[in-house]
Amino acid sequence: MALHSNFRAKPGCSLDASGRGVGAGLIFLRQEDEMSESLMVSYEVEGVVAVITVNNPPVNALTPEMRGSIIDAVAHANADPAVAAIVLIGGGQNFIAGADIRRFGKARTITTRMSAAALDASAKPTVAAIHGYALGGGLEHALACHYRIALPTAKLGLPEVALGLIPGGGGTQRLPRLVGAAVATDLLVSSRHVHAAEALKIGLISQIVPGTQSQELRDAAVSYAKAVAHAQPQRVRDLVLEPMDATTMDVLQAARREAAKKSPHNKAPQYAIDCIEAAFSLPFDEALEVESRLFSELEGSDVAKALRYAFFAEREAAKVPDAPPGFKPVEVRSAAVIGAGTMGAGIAICFADAGIVVKLLEASAEALDRGLQRIRDIYAVKVKRGRMTVEEMDACLQFVQPVSHYEEIGDCDVVVEAVFERIDLKKDVFTKLDAVMKPGALLLTNSSAIDINVMANMTSRPQYVAGAHFFAPANAMKLCEIVKGDQTSIETVVRAMKMGRDLKKVCAVSGTCDGFAANRSRAPLVTEMMLLLEEGARPEQIDRVMVEFGYPMGPFAVSDLSGLDVSYDTRKRRAAADPQYRKLHVPDRMVELGRKGQKNGAGWYRYEEGGRTPRHDEEVMRIIATVAHELGTPQRTFTDSEILKRLLFASINEACKILDEGKAYRASDIDVMWLYGFGFPRHRGGLLYWADTIGAKEIHLQVQQWHEQYGRRWTPSPLLSKAANEGLSLRELKSVI
Ligand code: COA
Repeated sequence: MALHSNFRAKPGCSLDASGRGVGAGLIFLRQEDEMSESLMVSYEVEGVVAVITVNNPPVNALTPEMRGSIIDAVAHANADPAVAAIVLIGGGQNFIAGADIRRFGKARTITTRMSAAALDASAKPTVAAIHGYALGGGLEHALACHYRIALPTAKLGLPEVALGLIPGGGGTQRLPRLVGAAVATDLLVSSRHVHAAEALKIGLISQIVPGTQSQELRDAAVSYAKAVAHAQPQRVRDLVLEPMDATTMDVLQAARREAAKKSPHNKAPQYAIDCIEAAFSLPFDEALEVESRLFSELEGSDVAKALRYAFFAEREAAKVPDAPPGFKPVEVRSAAVIGAGTMGAGIAICFADAGIVVKLLEASAEALDRGLQRIRDIYAVKVKRGRMTVEEMDACLQFVQPVSHYEEIGDCDVVVEAVFERIDLKKDVFTKLDAVMKPGALLLTNSSAIDINVMANMTSRPQYVAGAHFFAPANAMKLCEIVKGDQTSIETVVRAMKMGRDLKKVCAVSGTCDGFAANRSRAPLVTEMMLLLEEGARPEQIDRVMVEFGYPMGPFAVSDLSGLDVSYDTRKRRAAADPQYRKLHVPDRMVELGRKGQKNGAGWYRYEEGGRTPRHDEEVMRIIATVAHELGTPQRTFTDSEILKRLLFASINEACKILDEGKAYRASDIDVMWLYGFGFPRHRGGLLYWADTIGAKEIHLQVQQWHEQYGRRWTPSPLLSKAANEGLSLRELKSVI
């Protein structure tokens, strides 16, 4: 049989008389992209089975050119009389983790729908052999194959809604045909990945292949393909959907309500459900048109653009630019946490959850007992909410070992200090750690504001001292800010980042300064929200503005949750250190009057006994009015837009100062900190991504005006001025720590 014109032999292989590859195999080259991305799809024939391998490390993200090569490969296999069946498999660690996200929003000649249709229409049976990740467009290719088999470790999912999209290659139509409407809705709306065992149970795959290696999978897939070679291809599109019953309709309606509550700004979950409904009411090809139309509408939307930005910002934050080439940090296998308070207990849980033995040290037996009880309580809640079994809880608790002397933690790979935020206490802990910890141990502090150098200077090994700033509650919040002191070695930063990732945290690096990059960039927002109160704004209005912007809770409701007293001491410290510090009289007065927030039922709002619903409290209005009167501050009203700008522009200006001073590597790292540390609405991308939607010029102008009006705290950042003058994108600003 003659070869298709765009076939080439791979380097090091030749063609036999029949045109079949001998040796390493064949690759497909489209005329327009010789030796480019289509090289990433190869074709080999094993006996009567054609094996199409997708190879685009690290995750086999599919480009349009690669999809074109898959179409060519399927056509070639169908034209070759010696081939009876086709296997689609991924090279490296994964099947296909989806379409290349960088190519969304750009013109595409060959879509997932087209290459999926080629596999679906193949007259010869097609088998998807899945290992690693089969996600998004990757799973859609597998769904378009006539059979799916997987290694036990495979993970499958259609996570497009997390990117503000829906599957666009027939996934919304084939999935319900295989697993039913309710399960399909769950998978699409939750974005979750399912392991092979669950995939088999719900009918997503037809077989699990025992083994761990991709070669074992490939061998099994070739055998499977031979076995089904002469059978009628089982096309998912041909499966008949039973009419939707009342229970299923209820499930879909409940999913709509839940999605509207959880992500009101993202249309994708609603559109995914629209597509599932279309699967029941329209013929397959017409329903595919619905899917295509809705996909196209979402692809170019502001929400999808912001979510794509957030995806890559998170991955970029994981990179330490000046890391020594080839440096591979060793895994942390044992840890110690000093202090068993709320933060210490939460951090200990992070280690235990990751299967790392963690020694918990406290100053007294009573404090240690309270800490252990805190840990048990947190796990008990997880069991109660069905997030883990009693057995899993017991297994985790085994990893937590109470100790009472520093000598008992000396052999740990890492220690995280989480004592009360007082410099004298921290200094004392680091002096003791220096005396007992083995050489090379990471000495980390969970301080949220205190200069790392203060702790490092108490030791003879400042190169091993860094910050690992967890956010409260540490076991639940995803952010871990790794803080580099002036003497911290870059290897220590890389090791701490790896530890954070192993604890399933999203990590980003800061330089040391008061508050580091995360809290320091948010502090001006807090200052402005408090000063707005002095000028006549109400907590309810400010909270409403921020919730409408997309935050899950307003900043005053959050303050009630974390406790008003938490930042009181920090403010006193700052005021003592800086005579020009602008005191925040309203929150200080609230704390002094005993209003601590939810914990005592009285904060910015009033709470009923045991309740969490914030209620208006006239007493708060009286306190604010009294302070304003004492200060002689003129009272006025504020528009929602002014409130939003006052809060966020103040922080944007500070973020620029942070970058200017070399306290963060990238503007996008600060965005990641806001997304994962402060609940900044993801559909807005991040603080500086959002700033770009306004423009540096407009923000700078407003900052200058407020500088004239309010003075020093609004001094424009030189970097913001530069960005405004030169038309720079704020989210792309970079720095050196
Ligand atoms: N398109 C383009 N690049 C992708 C990608 C995709 N679909 N999926 C992953 N990558 C890139 C990442 O940007 C990263 O690149 P970098 O090393 O240059 O930073 C690299 O692949 C590794 O990804 P990472 O997330 O760091 O690896 P992981 O092992 O922690 O997670 C996945 C792997 C597949 C679970 C995760 O990358 C993921 O969820 N990808 C998106 C999947 C998806 O949404 N697919 C649907 C699109 S149709």
